[in-house]
Amino acid sequence: MNQKIRKKIKRICCIGAGFVGGPTMAVIADKCKNLQINVVDKNSKRINQWNNDDLNKLPIFEPGLDKIIKRCRNKNLTFSTNVEEEISSADLVFISVNTPTKIKGLGAGKASDLKWVEACARQVAANAKGHTIVVEKSTLPVKTAEVIKNILESTNFEKEGSTNATFDVLSNPEFLAEGTAIKDLEYPDRVLIGGDCKDAIMALNEIYLNWIPQEKILHTNIWSSELAKLTANAFLAQRVSSINSIGALCEVTGANIREVSRAIGTDSRIGPKFLDAGPGFGGSCFKKDILNLVYLCQYYDLNEVATFWESVIELNNWHQSRIANLIVKKLFGTVSGKKIFILGFAFKENTNDTRESASIKICKDLLSEGAVLFINDPKVNPDQIENDLKIKETKSLLNEDVKNKSNNDGSWCFVNQVSCGFKGADAVVILTGWQEYQKIDWGNASKTMRRPSWVFDARSVISSKEITQHKLNFWQIGSGN
Ligand code: NAD
Ligand code: UGA
Repeated sequence: MNQKIRKKIKRICCIGAGFVGGPTMAVIADKCKNLQINVVDKNSKRINQWNNDDLNKLPIFEPGLDKIIKRCRNKNLTFSTNVEEEISSADLVFISVNTPTKIKGLGAGKASDLKWVEACARQVAANAKGHTIVVEKSTLPVKTAEVIKNILESTNFEKEGSTNATFDVLSNPEFLAEGTAIKDLEYPDRVLIGGDCKDAIMALNEIYLNWIPQEKILHTNIWSSELAKLTANAFLAQRVSSINSIGALCEVTGANIREVSRAIGTDSRIGPKFLDAGPGFGGSCFKKDILNLVYLCQYYDLNEVATFWESVIELNNWHQSRIANLIVKKLFGTVSGKKIFILGFAFKENTNDTRESASIKICKDLLSEGAVLFINDPKVNPDQIENDLKIKETKSLLNEDVKNKSNNDGSWCFVNQVSCGFKGADAVVILTGWQEYQKIDWGNASKTMRRPSWVFDARSVISSKEITQHKLNFWQIGSGN
């Protein structure tokens, strides 16, 4: 076995230029000018977008990201497809690739698909030189570090003597939320480093110490770190399902979910965050990470624990269908041929990400009832919506009178400007909490809608007074008044 000769970290390679790899490495580069950070990805289109001179065309929209890219790109931060080359010159490699739910084979529908992580481990094993710290940044099932170590060591064994490569493996899960990624990375609640080698932990610790106080950098064993990440997401998602379940009860009892949230959130043991009722949680991770947890529990024969966590997802699915169904019911039991103006397609505000967005499920349900959807989102482009809905956009709808259009299959078009979507609409449905939806002039909007008209506010962005004074019918999530 080669002897591990550890060195000071100077060059970092991050495999995966996605929602995590891009912003995280940008912030590290910005805070550690003495480090050279090279982000690599096999997707050349994405890399070209990261290198675009027009900062409005970066592949990810995150408030504050463009300014950091401007400061660091091509100084101590690069984006390229040179995966092998950048691995071979790196002292530390972050693995920040996608880990979606497996769609076929053993564990399909629940377990994480680790084929991209495994491919990275093999690439690192084949190309690393000298001592390299390999850091799991992706969210991974407990014990994945063992798989990575196994691949690194056995490949190394095959090449013994030729490369002198040695490795340490750490877990350093990411807790950023989209839409607030830069703030979360600059001022994290905590940074978690799991591992069994003190020197490697301290090398990564030293990087974060450039801007994060030591008391916020937690060290654990590697399995606790992997499990803590899944658990944090499961707890957060559980709060959303809990508040949405009580919201449904509010609607039938005359209680109001915002008042209930405030009342329970002031209990310091519960706390005020993550208590906003909405159209159901979306995003690329909550569902996949809970499914992963469920799979792990089943694997270890903890079936009651698995059922407990699975119910968080079941409630979320039910909740999204409930919203689509209640829209249909309020519109006299049919939306066929009716124009419905959808405000918001991203899974939350301040991001262009639509993965698992509640809007996808709700729009699909309405389309299957024959609705004509006019969809607006300030950051999501129509190609992405087409991809998510799996129905081609009918652009000509913009110039048609869609009232009572015979439309058994449902159709949709994209509306660039919010003010252009109300004409002839039977209903407006707010599904993402973009700030600009709070500024709608409902007086003007209501004049052109078809009567009786409805406003469905699934994000609590508007006040009922504002709406009802214009003789619009109003439904708000969790409101029984
Ligand atoms: P993503 O899909 O946006 O990006 C992953 C990138 O990895 C892709 O661009 C893909 O082309 C690239 N890639 C995959 N295999 C590769 C390989 N072998 N070589 C080079 N490039 C490769 O994913 P993401 O949202 O950034 O998530 C990455 C990980 O971080 C996941 O495990 C996720 O669960 C976790 N996570 C995500 C978030 C989030 O907000 N999105 C937050 C915390 C943690
Ligand atoms: C979430 C976690 O918050 C991050 O800590 C974690 O790193 C990340 O997942 C991940 O692992 O991917 P994210 O999904 O980006 O971040 O966004 P959240 O703010 O958590 O929102 C998730 C969903 O819950 C959104 O659809 C949001 O609208 C919904 N939500 C959130 C509510 O409906 N109510 C709330 O009170 C909070």
